[in-house]
Amino acid sequence: MKPRTAHGQNTLPAEYFVSPDVWQLEQTRIFRAGWLLAGHVSALPQPGSYFVHDIGHDSVIVLRDRAGRVRAHHNFCRHRGTRLCLEHQGELGTALRCSYHAWTYELDGALRGAPHMQDVAGFDKTQWGLQPVALAEWRGFLFINLAPAPQAFDTAFAPLIGKFVHWPLTQLQSVHQTVYEVQANWKLFFHNYSECYHCPTVHPHLNKLTPYRNTENDLDEGAVLGGPMWLKNPEGSMSLTGERCAPPFAQLTAGERGRVYYYTLFPSAFLSLHPDYVLLHRAQPLALERTRIVCDWYFHPDAIAAPGFDPKPAIDFWDLTNRQDWALCANAYQGIRTSAWTPGPYSELESQLAAFDRHYLRVMQG
Ligand code: FES
Ligand SMILES: [Fe+2]
Repeated sequence: MKPRTAHGQNTLPAEYFVSPDVWQLEQTRIFRAGWLLAGHVSALPQPGSYFVHDIGHDSVIVLRDRAGRVRAHHNFCRHRGTRLCLEHQGELGTALRCSYHAWTYELDGALRGAPHMQDVAGFDKTQWGLQPVALAEWRGFLFINLAPAPQAFDTAFAPLIGKFVHWPLTQLQSVHQTVYEVQANWKLFFHNYSECYHCPTVHPHLNKLTPYRNTENDLDEGAVLGGPMWLKNPEGSMSLTGERCAPPFAQLTAGERGRVYYYTLFPSAFLSLHPDYVLLHRAQPLALERTRIVCDWYFHPDAIAAPGFDPKPAIDFWDLTNRQDWALCANAYQGIRTSAWTPGPYSELESQLAAFDRHYLRVMQG
């Protein structure tokens, strides 16, 4: 399939990366309206397991309740607003207790106890549970949505439905997580992920395994953008040795085994499907100029249990690549926010950046 061209499109004007007004509008139109990939069910192995997903000033707890159901709640106490979970992830036991005045919430969000509040006339415990957040699961991946009445997940992410059926996504487990925080606007990470124009210069170790022109896009407009790159060694994978770290997923076709599939899921994640593992980057914009990227390496439980399993070559490969990329994003941000910078022209190798910008502008127009 021939990718769409960049149509002579230039990069977005600087204000999109530096203006607090744009940031505010993004919060309303994008991050409080869209589905955000928050994590995977394997991070919630038992009742009380939780992780936190932060977006701007918002923070959401995703947990497994005592009945085994996955739920999402806003991460603040209904009394005086105190943040409840301070760590990225952990185990809560049977309840959530606020550190300030000890209001205690059930894992399903109901307020269980509030010391001395029984003396307050008209206080109704049932009205003061944690504020719920909409949640959707797609093949083991958990998405949250801060909108009071969100668009149906299957409509918002229609291109995902029925795709990647040969990867056992639901069963995967993360063997490693690295959290990065980088001084750059969130959109620059999407731009960086969406082209391999920079690969020969910056990632010689990557370019050796998948030469930068070994690529095509099978989704080139909308909320999900990307496509495969084919491996020079169809028996290999992306790792420091160039070898797979596990057998390929059992259901993959011969063609799928020799490729790595890269997709951006607007506005929160990059999903990279390898023959033997899945890499997930989650982007959490913390401020206009600061982004947290949480990166997980997922393998099949059978591969993890096999004697001699060693994911380190895959972990080290992407950690090296990530650090190279984050330095570029931070560096590009330095230039974009100077007084003299003006938008530059996209090359034909950057058609997916142009597509990202078109989708971004459509969403921003509301
Ligand atoms: S702020 Fe949480 S109990 Fe008071
Ligand atoms: Fe890169």
